[in-house]
Amino acid sequence: MSEELKNPLPRHVAVIMDGNGRWAKERRLPRLAGHNAGAQAVQRTLEAAQRTGIKYLTLYAFSTENWVRPQDEIDGLLKLLEQTLDRYTKEAAKHGVRLLVSGEKDRLPPAIVEKIEHAVASTAANTGLTLNLALNYGARQEIVHAANALIQEGKTHITMQDIQAHLYQPSLPDPELIIRTSGEERLSNFLLWQAAYSEFYFTPVLWPDFDGAEFEKALATYRTRVRRFGGL
Ligand code: IPE
Ligand code: IPE
Ligand code: MG
Repeated sequence: MSEELKNPLPRHVAVIMDGNGRWAKERRLPRLAGHNAGAQAVQRTLEAAQRTGIKYLTLYAFSTENWVRPQDEIDGLLKLLEQTLDRYTKEAAKHGVRLLVSGEKDRLPPAIVEKIEHAVASTAANTGLTLNLALNYGARQEIVHAANALIQEGKTHITMQDIQAHLYQPSLPDPELIIRTSGEERLSNFLLWQAAYSEFYFTPVLWPDFDGAEFEKALATYRTRVRRFGGL
């Protein structure tokens, strides 16, 4: 990269993993085949993030709006998530990965909620990369959740710090970089509060084709961005 580097590596990278369905369609495969291939891209991205020294990785796995999809796709996605959780809980122990899950648990099947709680508890003391899985996640819901928690506390006046303290993961820094694959250029209800000053990287690459090289390309692009935060 010949351009001047303006920024150190991001601490927190968030990814909107999009394009599984189109990847499958291009191959005349069922949509679930795309989601399965997408799970391998998750593995590659996790490895790339660890290799490059990223501290926090948030992956958007299922949105609060994704429940409108056909039931068989939802069932397949949840099954895949369950298998992935099992694998990561074992893998995490080896690599020191700490798992967090952001989203509302209410609509998730109890078996998955149990696995999430086990995975989060059993990796809580790990000091390597923090993998934050956004699952049944919606950013507007997250802000409403924070507001309700503050009402419960009896607050009649709130600050930005109060909201921050009641987000799903109050200890995570805002993502410096948000990547979205598949050519779509929107947030789709992802991290609305935390993205206030995030840099965006959009790539036409479909999620199942995403790999370490693509991840490093996004990081390199981020490093050339001029971040002003309202200043000059
Ligand atoms: C992303 O891929 C995975 C989820 C949203 C769960 P999509 O399933 O949205 O793939 P496209 O956008 O239809 O190609
Ligand atoms: C966003 O992708 C949600 C996830 C990647 C989990 P969608 O495919 O659901 O987003 P829209 O519907 O195209 O905005
Ligand atoms: Mg999509």
